[in-house]
Amino acid sequence: MANLQEKNISADQAQIEDGTPGQNLTLAKERDDKSLLSSPSGIDGEAALRRTFAIISHPDAGKTTLTEKFLLYSGQVAEAGAVKARAGRRNVTSDWMDLERQRGISITSTVLQFRYRSHVVNLLDTPGHRDFSEDTYRVLAAVDSAIMVLDVAKGIEAQTLKLFEVCAAREIPILTFINKYDRPGKDILELLDEIEKQIGLRPTPVTWPLGIAGDFRGVIDRRNNSYIRYIKSARGSKEALEDVMDFEDVKNLDPVLYENTQNELALLDAVGATFDQQSFLAGKTTPLFVGSALTNFGVQHILDAVIDIAPAPAPREDTLGQKRKLSDPFSGFVFKIQANMDPSHRDHVAFVRVCSGRFERGMTVTHHQSQKLFATKYVTSVFGNDRSTIDIAYPGDVIGLVNAGDLSIGDSLYEAVPVSYPPIPSFAPELFSRVESKDTAKYKQFKKGLEQMSREGVIQLYHDLEPVPNPIIAAVGQMQFEVFSYRLANEFKAPVEIIASKYKLLRRSNEASVKILGNTSGVKIVKDKNGTFLVLFESQYWLSHVTKEYPELLLEPLTI
Ligand code: G4P
Repeated sequence: MANLQEKNISADQAQIEDGTPGQNLTLAKERDDKSLLSSPSGIDGEAALRRTFAIISHPDAGKTTLTEKFLLYSGQVAEAGAVKARAGRRNVTSDWMDLERQRGISITSTVLQFRYRSHVVNLLDTPGHRDFSEDTYRVLAAVDSAIMVLDVAKGIEAQTLKLFEVCAAREIPILTFINKYDRPGKDILELLDEIEKQIGLRPTPVTWPLGIAGDFRGVIDRRNNSYIRYIKSARGSKEALEDVMDFEDVKNLDPVLYENTQNELALLDAVGATFDQQSFLAGKTTPLFVGSALTNFGVQHILDAVIDIAPAPAPREDTLGQKRKLSDPFSGFVFKIQANMDPSHRDHVAFVRVCSGRFERGMTVTHHQSQKLFATKYVTSVFGNDRSTIDIAYPGDVIGLVNAGDLSIGDSLYEAVPVSYPPIPSFAPELFSRVESKDTAKYKQFKKGLEQMSREGVIQLYHDLEPVPNPIIAAVGQMQFEVFSYRLANEFKAPVEIIASKYKLLRRSNEASVKILGNTSGVKIVKDKNGTFLVLFESQYWLSHVTKEYPELLLEPLTI
């Protein structure tokens, strides 16, 4: 108790429930970073202090809870609960969020920025539903690393496997957090196997649990063989206390547990499942941490890892394969467009990841795609639905350009020295539908809504080759169509009918090939917004038939 009082923490705050605290009880505190002493200054120095990452997880695995605890540990909120409270308020103030509330899902991404250990952390939220995998993929284009949160009881679930696959496909460094270890769950070794087999990422545990899920005793930090005892705190509204001792001490406390754990650790060593910075940065292995976000246990371990091992922003390759230096003039690309965040204004915010230079509000930048100049008078950062103006930003930061109606996903912006970043690839859609305006008097609004939502990436939009081209919308998941239809009716006041199409597969083609195809049965030829020809097939049967009949045709699958 003396220890607690010295640190000015009341016992009921800490809610210690299982035994007397050990000698080394400490409270997680912001500490100075020695590494900063040798950091470069200027833009390079600012970039080195940044960590830009996303959390990806199945719905309910604990993403919101972990986010909230990150804010608690960074001192951003005094008590956990703020994020959910904001989320609740948001639902009240925005009619667009009705849909999220009805479906109990998160559609829109938010960007949080906070300081931790003298670093600037940018946390980009991602939708946790497989139907919005494409949105997740775009967010992943804007981050330097990601945390994958898994519920220990559920592991990797089939319906959200796609989210993790896209993450692994981008080869960005992924940290794994096995959450809810305070509750019964799967065997941890089984989970490691699942991660490796299903997403092809090799887990390298940094912390390792003592006791099975539901009988959580603490973790071993494999970097220094210390044992951090699990101390329950009531719903973890305050930072957790940590009781640290040597792993060898466990031998006296619980010889059986010690031996079991030692055997597991020996197994990990034997199979080489040990943290390796190089393969982590290459997106081949994933450092793994175990904890319970609800009770705060393990939160600091993973947040520290973001600072200590996750990469800072690095120079980005442009379309020519040249790397633009961090210290070059400002440049960035649009990875997300969000409309109607403020229902009273019906506005349109383009989120830009800064890749180089120092951004200053008010500067005039060039929009590469149109070569038009763009004045950056209104620039916002977003926390839930709250906004504040951004004046300055550095590589790794995200800026929200308000009313940037001409910008599309993947577009590049720059100051002074031109640059264009590679486009963010579209997903191979799995669903196709025709779409008709229910009210012919609303045709203008219907067209406007279609185009805007295609630019925002809510759906993919094609047109057939009829004299008056009919729109065909495509998506990865059904819910994208629901969002599309809801927004057309509510935002654009143009209710639509969505009619499922008989086409199931899509291949990229060219003019010469589609001329040969002509009116072949089982296929439909469409064009995307860039004028690229695409061929839709009713089934695998028709695709195989056409490929056999016309082997010379260009029929490329979309890769993602
Ligand atoms: P999500 O954003 O990934 O969808 O998940 P979220 O954080 O909302 O967590 C989903 C549920 O899991 C919540 O319970 C949350 O309290 C619980 N949870 C999160 N982390 C842990 C953990 O480490 N241990 C345990 N036992 N539970 C955890 P809920 O009942 O849906 O909401 P609430 O009433 O607790 O707010």
